[in-house]
Amino acid sequence: MSENSKKRVLSGIQPSGNLTIGNYLGALRQWVAEQETFNCYFCVVDLHAITLPQDPAALREKTREVAALYLAVGLDPEKVTIFVQSHVPAHAELNWILSCLSPLGWLYRMTQFKDKSAKQQQDSIGAGLLNYPTLMAADILLYQAHAVPVGDDQRQHLEYTRDLAQRFNSMYGDTFVIPEAMIPKEGARIMGLDSPTAKMSKSEESDYHAVYLLDPPNRMKKKIMRAVTDSGSEITFNDDLARAGVNNLLTIYQATTGETKEAIEAHFAGKGYGDLKKAVAEVVMAKLEPVQTEYNRIVGESGYLDSILAQGAERASEMAEKTLAQVKERVGFLARR
Ligand code: TRP
Repeated sequence: MSENSKKRVLSGIQPSGNLTIGNYLGALRQWVAEQETFNCYFCVVDLHAITLPQDPAALREKTREVAALYLAVGLDPEKVTIFVQSHVPAHAELNWILSCLSPLGWLYRMTQFKDKSAKQQQDSIGAGLLNYPTLMAADILLYQAHAVPVGDDQRQHLEYTRDLAQRFNSMYGDTFVIPEAMIPKEGARIMGLDSPTAKMSKSEESDYHAVYLLDPPNRMKKKIMRAVTDSGSEITFNDDLARAGVNNLLTIYQATTGETKEAIEAHFAGKGYGDLKKAVAEVVMAKLEPVQTEYNRIVGESGYLDSILAQGAERASEMAEKTLAQVKERVGFLARR
């Protein structure tokens, strides 16, 4: 199938914090599968990262790290476009135009804004935090993406993107493809090791919250051995919140090995939580070892990552500029001659 007849997919991850096994099992792993069937754009969303304060040197370093991890997990730059959001100015430009169409009421209703702004001093919250979903809509709509693989927590932002696209289309005529969310089925939602009722986050301060993709193996093991469980002893998949820790460990085991729930429960029947943790640590370490080897190879090859990102920015710009030119024409901007 030619690139043009394939459906387009776009997704992105912020270069803040450290990528975790949650990012891998819940997102990156799916992206690798999607690259075979879709025309994919995967960006490192640095513009989004600065909606909260970032250290400039760390931001630059994390941007390269996330891009290198995209490659290390198996995204093939010959098949997909990997780029840094700020390298394609069209994102910021479309964000402006869309923000003029964004009702404040919609933006204030976003749960992510409510959560993140609640943690800030009220009068110093940046306007960018409120506009976060509009920038995300720009990311998606510039590429006329049909599908957007995201975690369940981004569902509302996807709905917002669709609403905004429909609003633009009805005001100015059909311009944007209306994107669908592609939310992974069960088994992909990994919770915090120390707080198994909340999604594993890459920007959590606590040392025992998440296994990072670049953690040394002994650190991974230590974190998993410390995971919160409960006072029971039965090792079964269970929706009961009181058993969320064990359920999470089993979910990690399942997502990592691909075995069925029944086989996993049978395997652990009669065993203790210590055995479960050891087994989870083993499979996770084995899964990530080749990713780390590949990561080290990529960052060790001078100039390689930069050239991939330069090529990615070029390919992304081509598509983004085409959409942006049409948008500018529709809203009535005078063409530059
Ligand atoms: N908001 C997304 C997240 O935190 C990241 C993101 C930014 C994104 N732009 C996007 C995801 C476009 C999908 C498509 O997970």
